[in-house]
Amino acid sequence: MNRVLKGKNILIGVCGGIAAYKVCDLASRLKKRDMNIDIIMTEASANFINPLTFQSLTSNKVIMNMFETSYDNEIQHIYLAKKADIVLIAPATANIIGKIAAGIADDMLTTTIMATKAPIVIAPAMNSNMYENSILQENISKLKKRGYVFIEPVEGRLACGDTGRGKMAEPVYIENYIESFFAASADLKGKKVIVTAGPTQEAIDPVRFITNHSTGKMGYAIAQKAALRGAYVDLISGPTVLAPPLGVNTINVISAEEMYKKIMELYDKADIVIKGAAVADYAPFNTTEQKIKKDEGNLTIELKKNPDILYELGKNKENKILVGFAMETQNLIENAKEKVAKKNLDFIVANDLKIEGAGFATDTNIVKLIFKDGSIESIPKMSKLDLADIILDRVVSILN
Ligand SMILES: Cc1cc2nc3c(=O)[nH]c(=O)nc-3n(C[C@H](O)[C@H](O)[C@H](O)COP(=O)(O)O)c2cc1C
Repeated sequence: MNRVLKGKNILIGVCGGIAAYKVCDLASRLKKRDMNIDIIMTEASANFINPLTFQSLTSNKVIMNMFETSYDNEIQHIYLAKKADIVLIAPATANIIGKIAAGIADDMLTTTIMATKAPIVIAPAMNSNMYENSILQENISKLKKRGYVFIEPVEGRLACGDTGRGKMAEPVYIENYIESFFAASADLKGKKVIVTAGPTQEAIDPVRFITNHSTGKMGYAIAQKAALRGAYVDLISGPTVLAPPLGVNTINVISAEEMYKKIMELYDKADIVIKGAAVADYAPFNTTEQKIKKDEGNLTIELKKNPDILYELGKNKENKILVGFAMETQNLIENAKEKVAKKNLDFIVANDLKIEGAGFATDTNIVKLIFKDGSIESIPKMSKLDLADIILDRVVSILN
């Protein structure tokens, strides 16, 4: 495992937040993996951590002042910007995120960020009110659209005593992310991928809804792997309990109608669409405003047909790659083949709900890939993450 990170250059920008102490642990971990670590500290961050700590942990001089003259002949911010294979900003303050989004370069860190062409990964940490502030969220969206990757903060008890989202991801999590970044091939670099995942919920009244057993695990695995392979990924997710995958733009929706609208908004610019969601085929004709009261007799709920999202996408496919999922309890191959033709798909991932180890809620799947030329590939039981890679391998073969 050490091979993956050995000799790679990481530039870490440390900002002025309490979580700066956690970055000492991260730097120590990465050093043990034989990475070369350069650290730029903001002036504010020196109130939390002494530069000497990072200097000792990385065996490299820590840089704070852009105009210090005691360096070698190199112009430091340009030198470090070019040298980095990856730039990590951790902890990232609301301030630094705002400055990067606004194109400000008024200190060593922001100037180096402006000058680098390396991928930039940002791990925010702050009070949850600051994190939820709409200005910060707009800045984050702006940067995500430009390809900056965010390692989302997690929920928990914050240093200020509040509880909420804002805790920096744990060093081991960030270390894993950096490792997967270097381990993954970049064969989807520059591609825009839409993945849908999870069930939809179709409201009957304010309390009840119609849904299915989908957990979203397969779609989330595909989104995660596509991002690691260099794609820009929009994950449109129905309600799930899963954490948003790293480096993916996750958009939460509830109903099939919402999922349809969201995907149609994004479809034009997509290169690849993988429809992993288990979208409800029908929704209640009317959603009542008040809770339906129990009565003496039976209750009949009239259902209307939801939009057939895959069919609509298939009509305007152009050069896009379109992959569907089929979950059946009988006649798997026949039904799946019919779906490939009717919905103009490149291939479909078909699984039989009745086979153990396949389908909803499991961490594994057993599927058949059915291609538009009629060929069938049987994939044995494997984890959904491994299967995600196989599905993406087939997508890449079609791309090439
Ligand atoms: C005790 C203390 C803790 C702070 N923690 C955070 C934090 O976790 N996240 C954050 O965005 N700002 C935090 N701040 C505010 C930043 O230090 C301040 O916005 C500073 O200007 C950031 O500068 P920098 O982005 O150049 O490092 C904290 C300030 C203090 C005094």
